Amino acid sequence: MSTTEALRVGVVGLGIMGAGHLRTLAADVPRAQVAAVCDVDVAHARMVAREDARLHVDPIALIRSDEVDAVLIASSDATHADLVLACIDAGKPCCARSHSRRRPRRAWP
Ligand SMILES: NC(=O)c1ccc[n+]([C@@H]2O[C@H](COP(=O)([O-])OP(=O)(O)OC[C@H]3O[C@@H](n4cnc5c(N)ncnc54)[C@H](O)[C@@H]3O)[C@@H](O)[C@H]2O)c1
Repeated sequence: MSTTEALRVGVVGLGIMGAGHLRTLAADVPRAQVAAVCDVDVAHARMVAREDARLHVDPIALIRSDEVDAVLIASSDATHADLVLACIDAGKPCCARSHSRRRPRRAWP
């Protein structure tokens, strides 16, 4: 990826934090392009996300898709470990900020 190419970001979970991430990416990260979003609440996702972002209901499908370079995880705490591990498996950089103390132990046996 060159330094001038867009960074295609996927955002999983479009609640309080995820919606905030969408606003921040649009306003403050010039090279970021929200290429795909995912929320189990599809009606809510359609309201929050821009129409040009592909909508997924399965976060693993978003993580594995060729349309995203990096993933922001903002779904519920209990989903983070599996989704972070899926990003590692897919070779995608990811960010998951959680209040949870649960750790993805499979990555560090
Ligand atoms: N709200 C805060 O101030 C805050 C601050 C720091 C970190 N966090 C962390 O951010 C994360 C999200 O918090 P929030 O306050 O935005 O929660 P929220 O409940 O407002 O939003 C979570 C969203 O994730 C969706 N979701 C749940 N399971 C999903 C799945 N399997 N696939 C796709 N989408 C799914 C829900 O439908 C919901 O829209 C949590 O891990 C929380 O600990 C929150």
